[in-house]
Amino acid sequence: MEKVPIKWQKKYLQIMNRRITVRSICSGDLHMLLTWRNSPHVRDFMLTRHLISESEHYEWFLNKNKDSLCTRLIVEENESPLGYVQFDEVAERGEAVWTFHLKPDAPPGSGTKLGLHALNYAFDVLGFCVIHGKVLDFNNKSISFHYKMGFIKKTILQNQLTINKNPVSLICFKLDKKAWQKTCVR
Ligand SMILES: CC(C)(COP(=O)(O)OP(=O)(O)OC[C@H]1O[C@@H](n2cnc3c(N)ncnc32)[C@H](O)[C@@H]1OP(=O)(O)O)[C@@H](O)C(=O)NCCC(=O)NCCS
Repeated sequence: MEKVPIKWQKKYLQIMNRRITVRSICSGDLHMLLTWRNSPHVRDFMLTRHLISESEHYEWFLNKNKDSLCTRLIVEENESPLGYVQFDEVAERGEAVWTFHLKPDAPPGSGTKLGLHALNYAFDVLGFCVIHGKVLDFNNKSISFHYKMGFIKKTILQNQLTINKNPVSLICFKLDKKAWQKTCVR
């Protein structure tokens, strides 16, 4: 059985009734991923916020294929795609920055399933020792979500970008493997 925070054991039994799997992305996912990525539900909370064209998306796919430090994953529930997760390793030092989003019509609770499985995968399969997250300061859902997953707030990068003429800061989170293991049981 996969690891799960002790406080969630009861809830997790319900989650386990539905089969969650993690797999690498493939070219057959490209159209779906572009639709997800361009939806306001996702685009409004990303650092890159313009509408992405098909050619730009395809270029991204090919370029990242050559990047050995980047892992791109689809989390599936009952063999149906639920969300996307990307881990970019930082300078081959066993640490990675993650970014993620659900499909636009995912029901509540989906983020928790995605986070649990993606983080287990990151620590156990990919072998990372630290995962970092960077969140736009108005993305309250993702800020709460990071705390729920056990991340701690590391720093705030003030006024990193301007959105609709407003300065926006980045909240930087960190989760290390030891902290994840401490709060989890198999
Ligand atoms: C962030 C995201 C994955 C959360 O998914 P979700 O399905 O809403 O998550 P869950 O329902 O499992 O809730 C997980 C936690 O998120 C937080 N959360 C969820 N909805 C929230 C809301 N409306 N307000 C504040 N916090 C919220 C809570 O901490 C919640 O835990 P709780 O239910 O125990 O209180 C999802 O909203 C998403 O894909 N957002 C768009 C992309 C994005 O922002 N990516 C992150 C970039 S840093």
